[in-house]
Amino acid sequence: MCGIVAYVGHREACPLVIKGLKRLEYRGYDSAGVALLNGDGLKVYKKKGKVSALEHELSGRTLHAKIGMGHTRWATHGEPNDVNAHPHYSFHRKLAIIHNGIIENYAAIKENLLRKGHTFASETDTEVLGQFIEDIWENQGGTLEEAVRLALQEVVGAYAIVIMTEDDPTQLIAARKGSPLVIGIGEGEFFCASDATPIIEYTKDVVYLNDYEIAVIKDGALRIVTLDNTTTTPYVHKVELELEAIEKGGFDHFMLKEIFEQPRSIADSMRGRVNADEGHLQLGGLRDYLDKLAASKRIVIVGCGTSWHAGLVAEYIFEELARIPVEVEYASEFRYRNPIISEGDIVIAISQSGETADTLAAIELAKSKGATIFGVCNVVGSSIARATHAGAYTHAGPEIGVASTKAFTAQVTVLTLMALAAAQRKGVIADSLLRQLLAELESIPAKVEKVLQAAEKIKEIAYIFTYARNFIYLGRGLNFPVALEGALKLKEISYIHAEGYPAAEMKHGPIALIDEDMPVVVIATKDSSYEKVVSNIQEVKARKGRVIAITTEGDTQLPDMVDFTIEIPKVHEILMPLVSVVPLQLLAYDIAVMRGRNVDQPRNLAKSVTVE
Ligand code: F6R
Repeated sequence: MCGIVAYVGHREACPLVIKGLKRLEYRGYDSAGVALLNGDGLKVYKKKGKVSALEHELSGRTLHAKIGMGHTRWATHGEPNDVNAHPHYSFHRKLAIIHNGIIENYAAIKENLLRKGHTFASETDTEVLGQFIEDIWENQGGTLEEAVRLALQEVVGAYAIVIMTEDDPTQLIAARKGSPLVIGIGEGEFFCASDATPIIEYTKDVVYLNDYEIAVIKDGALRIVTLDNTTTTPYVHKVELELEAIEKGGFDHFMLKEIFEQPRSIADSMRGRVNADEGHLQLGGLRDYLDKLAASKRIVIVGCGTSWHAGLVAEYIFEELARIPVEVEYASEFRYRNPIISEGDIVIAISQSGETADTLAAIELAKSKGATIFGVCNVVGSSIARATHAGAYTHAGPEIGVASTKAFTAQVTVLTLMALAAAQRKGVIADSLLRQLLAELESIPAKVEKVLQAAEKIKEIAYIFTYARNFIYLGRGLNFPVALEGALKLKEISYIHAEGYPAAEMKHGPIALIDEDMPVVVIATKDSSYEKVVSNIQEVKARKGRVIAITTEGDTQLPDMVDFTIEIPKVHEILMPLVSVVPLQLLAYDIAVMRGRNVDQPRNLAKSVTVE
């Protein structure tokens, strides 16, 4: 949610910041802006819309500066327009500020400043924070660093901020609480960014700022202090990310690239963890916690959106294989009730970005109640990964398309490995079944590859339904969460209303919607509920619904019964979601493209939801 990038060093700051903003645009694209400092003073340029609109605005100007910062916004306070775009000047324009997060007590702070005669150009909480810092700096007579520290001590909410000042072309001050911030350390240059992607072509050395820390970059040196003014020694990580992983690589969209990457990303999430021949399975990050997992009386899974869907799949798998009761909760609901957490409960938090505010808050709540928390995250070093006791990374590589695809299949893969490891440690899975499932898991990348070969056929079906106004998705058992995920993919990128339902639940209400204008996508693979799903399809057909069925290769019954079929290879029922979700991702993608939508950056959405 909002991307921030800043630079100080020997390069031209403006093009570097703009390029960085483009990499971070997946975090929000309501407006964009830059601040640059040179002999002409501290200048801010900003524009409603995407970074390209800002770039257009800046074209033709000579903007030389060796220090600058930029922001791409996902609006929280104030509508997306030029004025509410960041950076914001302070009242006397001594500083400019960019911010990702929400200052919850901004109204009270603003009230005070208004009483002192301040006026505000925008409706944002960020401008209030900038003015607050400047006010302390001017009136309490210390350094800017002290003013930032004092101001942030008063702030309630979440922030990653960077500040530049009119009077010091060597200085950037950055701080974080609850929103991510990475500091890159190059040769005589420094970078700040919401994630490492704007930095990696210049340096691999980064420091992940912790909550309540302030980074002071001044006169070519970096110092980190906490809000209570203790200097800390930064731990410098080497980022492993390569540039090609964050580029489109010949695909029209990141989403399509990421769908097609799944054979590799699923394999990567198993790499070094599975040896089917030896019945061997290891999850290094859980090594010391496996006994606890196996002995747990209950698992609570928390996540949001697609990650919550992966949790629903995991519920079936853990209960089936490890015989541990599982509850799956939306993190946003879990955090605001008084959940019953007993000793011996395990909470698994699932998050691609590792930054989702609700999931992070759910973790903190569960921790405070004594639970042991495992993380299943994609982004290494992310806030959630760091907040958990143990965990397993998904290793899917950067996911840039806003709609999650390869992260989902990687999450399901890792959660399956966790369930198998728990079942093995508990002694409740036969060695033969364990080996069979591990071997089946190893075959999944090839099976996903096979589904991807149906891309052209899926495109033809998408063409027929491009202008449908509604869709229903049905599935049973492990394919029920897949139906939810298929519907979510379609609605978020095509803006078509879509609902996912357990197939048998349809007759308790949604069946009233069925007529010849209602496309119904049914996941009807050959598994234990196949016959039941076939009956549900007949109920739809009897009401003239148009059925697109995801079927198992060799099924001869369904092609005669439904309007369209998309075949997928035979897969063990437990692992079915890893394969059955893929045609639904492609269908959503194709329909959205045919409707002319911006699939990588759908309206109103952001990749990383760091506000609640
Ligand atoms: C949907 C999607 C979102 C995310 C959700 C959680 O395609 O991407 O629903 O799954 O915002 O995000 P993470 O997994 O980063 O916590």
